Amino acid sequence: MKILFIGDVVGSPGRDMVQEYLPKLKEKYHPNLTIINGENAAAGKGITEKIYKQFLEWGAQVITMGNHTWDKKEIFEFIDDAKYMIRPANFPEGTPGKGLVFVNINGVEVAVINMQGRTFLSAIDDPFRKIDELIDEAKERTNLIFVDFHGEATSEKQAFGWYLDGRVSAVVGTHTHTQTADERILPAGTAYITDVGMTGPYDGILGVERDSVIKRFLTSLPVRFETTKEGRTQLNGFFVTIDDRTGKATKVERIIINEDHPFFS
Ligand SMILES: [Fe+2]
Ligand SMILES: [Fe+2]
Repeated sequence: MKILFIGDVVGSPGRDMVQEYLPKLKEKYHPNLTIINGENAAAGKGITEKIYKQFLEWGAQVITMGNHTWDKKEIFEFIDDAKYMIRPANFPEGTPGKGLVFVNINGVEVAVINMQGRTFLSAIDDPFRKIDELIDEAKERTNLIFVDFHGEATSEKQAFGWYLDGRVSAVVGTHTHTQTADERILPAGTAYITDVGMTGPYDGILGVERDSVIKRFLTSLPVRFETTKEGRTQLNGFFVTIDDRTGKATKVERIIINEDHPFFS
């Protein structure tokens, strides 16, 4: 099983990158499953139904989310019908949507799980206890389990990776929007990266207009954060190959596309 993951798509510059490069990445890597983190896809905050459907049309099979899940009000109208969208599974009981989805790829099932950390993020349910439950549920159907762990603190993300080593196929970090160079396969067979990075503006600050972010640091005044709309763009992703029988990762690769790291087919 080959899985391609694209990190936090930010606004229209991010969506344009997905549209342009997803076909090229598919040609290069031949993934059986493509997953996109879409928590920032609509103007940097949340996602709309139109964008969700667009991602599926462009060739993604699962969309994961994060702390920006509820930023666009219309999410409440479509999330329960969006079969292939997942939001962090450790959001409190009673929250709309779901955090685990099974995808059938030519007869092989893959469980995709979205989880969120709670260090420097909202105090939601314990992701460590919750993932144990979800792994039990997933293992009844498949050994192939892919986890998007949406978190701020590197320590929490590393702890989560090691906690799951040998029990899931991959733990990929999202949320910080900056790719880390620590991709590896942990000793018991779990692919890991602390953060996949983002897809969108290359010269913003985590995708946001620089001037407003700098002003915030200079003055502490409230400023409106807008996605950088013009200029250079980037795509960051992660590619993992998994043994279908054991569910263990056999190969990992970081994907980085920008002007300093051009795409080679
Ligand atoms: Fe994000
Ligand atoms: Fe986030």
